[in-house]
Amino acid sequence: MKNRFPENFLWGGATAANQMEGAYNEDGKGLSVQDVTPKGGFGPVTEGPTEDNMKLVGIDFYHRYKADIKLLAEMGFKVFRISIAWTRIFPLGDELTPNEKGLKFYDDVFDECLKYKIEPLVTISHYETPLHLAKVYDGWKNRKMIDFYERYVTTLFDRYKDKVKYWLTFNEINSILHAPFMSGGIITPKEALSKQDLYQAIHHELVASALATKIAHEINPSMQIGCMVLAMPVYPMTPKPEDVMKTLELDRSNLLFSDIYVRGYYPSYAKRLFKENDVVIHMEDGDEALLRNTVDFISFSYYMSICETSEETKALGAGNIFPGVKNPYLKASEWGWQIDPLGLRYVLNTLYDRYQKPLFIVENGLGAVDELITDAHDHKTVNDDYRIQYLNDHLVQVGEAIEDGVEIMGYTSWGCIDLVSASTAELKKRYGFIYVDRHDDGSGTLERYKKKSFYWYKEVIATQGGILKK
Ligand code: BG6
Repeated sequence: MKNRFPENFLWGGATAANQMEGAYNEDGKGLSVQDVTPKGGFGPVTEGPTEDNMKLVGIDFYHRYKADIKLLAEMGFKVFRISIAWTRIFPLGDELTPNEKGLKFYDDVFDECLKYKIEPLVTISHYETPLHLAKVYDGWKNRKMIDFYERYVTTLFDRYKDKVKYWLTFNEINSILHAPFMSGGIITPKEALSKQDLYQAIHHELVASALATKIAHEINPSMQIGCMVLAMPVYPMTPKPEDVMKTLELDRSNLLFSDIYVRGYYPSYAKRLFKENDVVIHMEDGDEALLRNTVDFISFSYYMSICETSEETKALGAGNIFPGVKNPYLKASEWGWQIDPLGLRYVLNTLYDRYQKPLFIVENGLGAVDELITDAHDHKTVNDDYRIQYLNDHLVQVGEAIEDGVEIMGYTSWGCIDLVSASTAELKKRYGFIYVDRHDDGSGTLERYKKKSFYWYKEVIATQGGILKK
């Protein structure tokens, strides 16, 4: 493929603390909502951590970060997306002083990245609400969360202002619509959560995020703050006008978040949405002014697209947090997520048309079962041609979008090193260029092995996308 990626394009990979660090109770770390959900974000919640929870050990990044970052550097990474575990910094969430050992750990991680000229891209809250805040305050339902988050982000920005330039305030903020516990630390069961409480919680997060943007810019104006949304293009099932209208409505339920992040106010269509759902957002003095602290860039995850229909009965397929109507034209991953590379070009174009803000693809990838084999040189590896194909096809569409005129800052593939899945808490569902020897029964040496895709991605980066095949 013709070289289309700009020189300063940020190539890299993405991860989250709770899915890889392990060391769930070391150096003063408190419990997060993840530590009590052994079956993943949607699974049953336990009273305390149980042994079957894969995230308690993760891939032991906490102790192995130096060797892991060295491998990422070997691939030529320009950026590494990680999240900070809120509970390492404020173990309960509502304390006044942070935990120095937690702060020191991320200092060390950032120093290690910077040693290789890798820019850290940091998610402040990636499905890791402190459990205490969930239990005592019911998470983001409670306005007090804004104060706790403010203290947390101020601590981070003060401490890392010279090390971290790119920040994301909340991972996939719109996932709260479907996973209020995992996403918003709301312990009230989803079925019992009123729309009023849900949208009020969303308001609290949006205000907190805007406040974070304001604080960051005051502390160091060169810091760039992005929102992060779960992007999933919705196609009408048929050209029937009713299907098209339904599609618009479903799309807007997600766009509401980025509309507020980017424009700094609630869009006019929110009025009807709220009216029909008996929602009245309680705004405090100053909220509207705060929301006007808009983001510097828009980041998003992209794995799949869905369809929408006006029919009463819908054949829903599996999906990334949001279920959707199956598209008969697309194949799916082993976990039923429908694969749609062109959908990525579509998302990039529609978001850029709507906002004219720089975009950052901070998650994309294929979760698949890998087989570790021994090659002719006696090296353990995985021949993951399926992953190479998936990533190639998506990156080709990123190139097309650049050609379409879309401003794209970078691309971080999800789970660049194998980690624990968010939805199902399995390690069997692997995304990485680096294989981690750990299995769902807890066995494995935790050794790392380079997959075929490791060498492929290294070439992609070295050639600025030159080896991608259309
Ligand atoms: C995104 C999340 O929804 O998808 C990640 O931000 C998650 O945390 C990723 O891991 C892939 O989903 P899963 O369920 O396959 O891990």
